[in-house]
Amino acid sequence: MNVNYAELAATAVKPEQYPTAGLPEFAFIGKSNVGKSSLLNVMAERKTLARTSNSPGKTRTINFYNINNICMLVDLPGYGYAKVSRLESEKWGKMTERYLLNRKQLLAVFLLLDIRHGLSALDRQMLDWLEHYSFDIVTVATKSDKVKRSTIPYRLKLLNDSAQVSSILTFSSETREGRKYLWDTILKKIQDNYRL
Ligand code: GTP
Ligand code: MG
Repeated sequence: MNVNYAELAATAVKPEQYPTAGLPEFAFIGKSNVGKSSLLNVMAERKTLARTSNSPGKTRTINFYNINNICMLVDLPGYGYAKVSRLESEKWGKMTERYLLNRKQLLAVFLLLDIRHGLSALDRQMLDWLEHYSFDIVTVATKSDKVKRSTIPYRLKLLNDSAQVSSILTFSSETREGRKYLWDTILKKIQDNYRL
């Protein structure tokens, strides 16, 4: 998809700060440093729209990116970053949970998993939680450029076996692998939703 318009529509820590335009939303969730903000920049075709960092714990608010006035891609703070205090991570957890559980226009949740690592205990917990609440979940294996191409099918199988999900997309913010497929997935969900 060609992106003509991409803008940070809101930065929120509480519902009053969420955007009010009513566009369909897609949330991106996963461990700190898994590549959520980088992926959003690739999706938006903007290098520095979402701030990224080598050190985990960069995104600390809920950031809504309006893309072409078609939808909002929502960047959530990562979990599992050991250096933040327990209180701080509980605060992020509550903030994220409040968004996910109450947002009517949220159409799907993209759970990002690093292709190099297995499913961590926290990933498992997140997946169970999302399944419990019957979210439409799409799993994405990130940083595919970091592994030998020949090992990708095997790694996907391992992830799939532990996550037990119907499908996993591969994505790389370096090579942009997976961008088109991810946009196709999003656009289809928007279409299906309008048809309802
Ligand atoms: P938090 O905001 O802390 O939750 O992290 P995040 O999930 O938003 O990760 P972010 O996008 O900031 O990326 C973390 C680091 O991984 C940065 O140094 C990125 O450059 C790097 N990175 C992200 N995606 C990729 C990728 O596809 N390939 C490679 N090689 N590096 C990546
Ligand atoms: Mg981030």
